[in-house]
Amino acid sequence: MSDQTEKVWSGRFSEPVSDLVKRYTASVFFDRRMAMQDIRGSLAHARMLARQKIVSGDDLAAIERGMAQIRGEIERDEFAWNLDDEDVHLNIEKRLTALIGDAGKRLHTGRSRNDQVATDIRLWLRDTVDAVDGLLAAFQKALLDLAEAHVDTPLPGFTHLQVAQPVTFGHHLLAYFEMAQRDRARMADARRRINRLPLGAAALAGTTYPIDREFVAQELGFDGVCENSLDAVSDRDFAIEFCAAASLVMMHISRFSEELILWMSPRVGFIDLADRFCTGSSIMPQKKNPDVPELARGKTGRVYGHLMGLLTLMKGQPLAYNKDNQEDKEPLFDTADTLIDTLRIFADLVPGIRVKPDAMRAALKQGFATATDLADYLVKKGMPFRDAHEAVARAVRAAEAKGCDLPDLALSELQAFSPLIGEDVFGVLTVTGSLAARDHVGGTAPAQVRAAIARARASL
Ligand code: ARG
Repeated sequence: MSDQTEKVWSGRFSEPVSDLVKRYTASVFFDRRMAMQDIRGSLAHARMLARQKIVSGDDLAAIERGMAQIRGEIERDEFAWNLDDEDVHLNIEKRLTALIGDAGKRLHTGRSRNDQVATDIRLWLRDTVDAVDGLLAAFQKALLDLAEAHVDTPLPGFTHLQVAQPVTFGHHLLAYFEMAQRDRARMADARRRINRLPLGAAALAGTTYPIDREFVAQELGFDGVCENSLDAVSDRDFAIEFCAAASLVMMHISRFSEELILWMSPRVGFIDLADRFCTGSSIMPQKKNPDVPELARGKTGRVYGHLMGLLTLMKGQPLAYNKDNQEDKEPLFDTADTLIDTLRIFADLVPGIRVKPDAMRAALKQGFATATDLADYLVKKGMPFRDAHEAVARAVRAAEAKGCDLPDLALSELQAFSPLIGEDVFGVLTVTGSLAARDHVGGTAPAQVRAAIARARASL
């Protein structure tokens, strides 16, 4: 037998493909990472075939024996992956047939690589989503631990990157907890649509054998079957959903990264990152660069790119399966790898953040952070808000001219802007007073931050 006639679709062809075409069309060097899913799917399919008396019990026993051996070979890295056999599915099937003979050739009864590959990807992605969920939870836990240590550490809250109002560092960190919470919900939602069984769709139209799809779905832990055979083999929207959810995770991580980079800049100096997340410069001996957050920010673009790649891959494809779809795997794998590595690193990086409360407090003295509190104070004394806003604006201007902060002005100076101002104003102008006053669900008062952390812990 020549190599060419050993091909599964051999009989139809009169000349072999060139080496270049072989390499161009093969996917085994990247889809072999779905080998374990492929074997799982094949075993469930084979069990169904035997239950339905489509293959014999002896065939099933041989398939199970052969697959056990193949699994071992792959795990021990002894499996001889072969480009000539195109993809993970054909490599494993060919080895199975070499090991067990005709029973191996019966495995593909009532099945096509089209529903096989769709099943493998879904199994693989389901595991990936579960891993991502665990890592997001670890990241959240790290945020909560750090937030707990800083429920009343004041930090300038920024809008437009200008000092706006005091917040606590704990409160600031809890914002990222909330983002991660929604990220997990999005992943869980995508998982519901990932977790459907394509097998049984065969090439596109279903199969003539008396199959039992529900049984296979149950064996593989799917919530149900894909209802339409054409849709089952051709759409990759579930992979796109995952990449979209991953893009949002990375978007959030990139915002956190940007803040870490800024906070770590010597000009700001709010935090320091543990040395293991930084590198030095090959020319400037004094440097300690926040490489990890910078790379996370950069890798966000790469994940967005994969999302665009997959959307474009699917655009305009006619039903049902087209070979284009083989191009779904590398972007999907790289998205998952990037996301998982990033989250693993960030779950470890957060506990290594060294907070510098003195620098945060010093920065708060510079931007009239309690100006809104003064306006609120005047409103509570009866002044309409717009007038209060104007009075405080003039007070800020005076303080600025004097080169001091609002609470540094004397009572008599403050009273020049409104006779409503009394001695009690200084309780309002302090950072501690400002923080404590925002005492409602979602506010930055330390008591509220403590309560929010307790709720967050309960939800983990
Ligand atoms: N390697 C292929 C893929 O990843 C498997 C499906 C091939 N099906 C086919 N009809 N050529 O999509």
